Amino acid sequence: MPNDAEARALRDPLIERPLIERLRTGLAAAGLAGLVSLATGAEAQDFQLFGQGGTYIGYTWGGPNGGGVTWGFEGRVGGELRDPWRNAMDPFFAAAAVARFGFIGIEPGLHLGGQAGAANGWGSLMGEVLLGYQWGEGGGFSMPLGVQLDVAFASTFIRADPFLESFGFGGGVVLPPRMFMPMAVAGRALHDEVGHAALPAVERLDEPRLPADVGAELATALCTSWERRAQAEWASVPAFVQLAVQLRVADAPACLVGRALDAAQDELRHAVMTARASMCYGGAPLRLGRVTPATRAHAQGRDALARLAVESWVDGCLGEGEAAAAVAHEADLAPAPELAAMQRAIAADEARHAELAWDVLAWALAEGGDDVRHALAAVRDARPSDATSGVDSQVDLRPHGLLSEAEHGAIGDAVRERALPRFDRLVA
Ligand SMILES: [Fe+2]
Ligand SMILES: [Fe+2]
Repeated sequence: MPNDAEARALRDPLIERPLIERLRTGLAAAGLAGLVSLATGAEAQDFQLFGQGGTYIGYTWGGPNGGGVTWGFEGRVGGELRDPWRNAMDPFFAAAAVARFGFIGIEPGLHLGGQAGAANGWGSLMGEVLLGYQWGEGGGFSMPLGVQLDVAFASTFIRADPFLESFGFGGGVVLPPRMFMPMAVAGRALHDEVGHAALPAVERLDEPRLPADVGAELATALCTSWERRAQAEWASVPAFVQLAVQLRVADAPACLVGRALDAAQDELRHAVMTARASMCYGGAPLRLGRVTPATRAHAQGRDALARLAVESWVDGCLGEGEAAAAVAHEADLAPAPELAAMQRAIAADEARHAELAWDVLAWALAEGGDDVRHALAAVRDARPSDATSGVDSQVDLRPHGLLSEAEHGAIGDAVRERALPRFDRLVA
């Protein structure tokens, strides 16, 4: 539901000045493409609490009755020391207190202790020392030492106990999983060596103040959806810097390099506007985490031309083409003129970015000939696979100017149908 706050915020260029300043600082860092890092605030470590519970099963040699199948339950409560400006996939220090109640065969044991090690967005590797008591013949005071590796919700461990002279291993499940899925909202994606780079962390600097005239569930869904958009727009800034540098390395015409850098500035503007849209629905000011601008080595020679062509097709012609069409559609649905104007401006930029991708593709084909043609033929039917609209799917946000994931997908299919004949004419 549009409200006065939304209209005011979209009009007011001075709103949340610190956010804009931060984004400008971020662009300056990204613009140097890996030559400098964003030192401001990079040393600060934030402490965050976490808690997990789990169950496990394995086998133990030694201990009560000579060992046997081992199983049980455990819980841990701990803290993470992480720099909020770092990419969510970078490792950070984590430590936790652990309580474990389990069995070796039919004999119970109870242990308390601690774990410490490294974690990142996917999981953790922690060493542990526990103290406790193991019942059963041959049992007694016990001090398991172990290493536990968690990836998402899967866990595996090895443990040895010098007092019981036992050794065991096994695996289990931990909940909630420590999981940060890389994803990209339809648009230009930042690449690392294996695919799409993780999106930067986004952090609310304050408690959301949900407006009274919009229900809490709806306001939360709108805030979250716009926050995800801001996160992805922000990640597109270094994605275009990455493209500009790769074009330069490949000796592309200066106008293509310049257009890629202009697109990076467009994406910065989109990040500010979409973050502001989130705040309109009561969202707190956002801090968008640092994105590592140089996430992979630049390709050289013919590899560079093939990479530029392939990524221009998938991320640009298709991905940004979809973004342009979907956001233009959302502009028509926008319940407030300010929101419609914002979306129209973003859609026009995205359409220009898609045209830049077509021009890069044509140039790479002209330069690279059959090598590039073959590389393109292999991805003709590819899709921007992990793209998502970023929209919270639990609530219908159409009346508020946001299309669902499925509607974005359908628009993407239509864009693709229109793009394929043009692609075939170029590549044939
Ligand atoms: Fe954008
Ligand atoms: Fe874009």
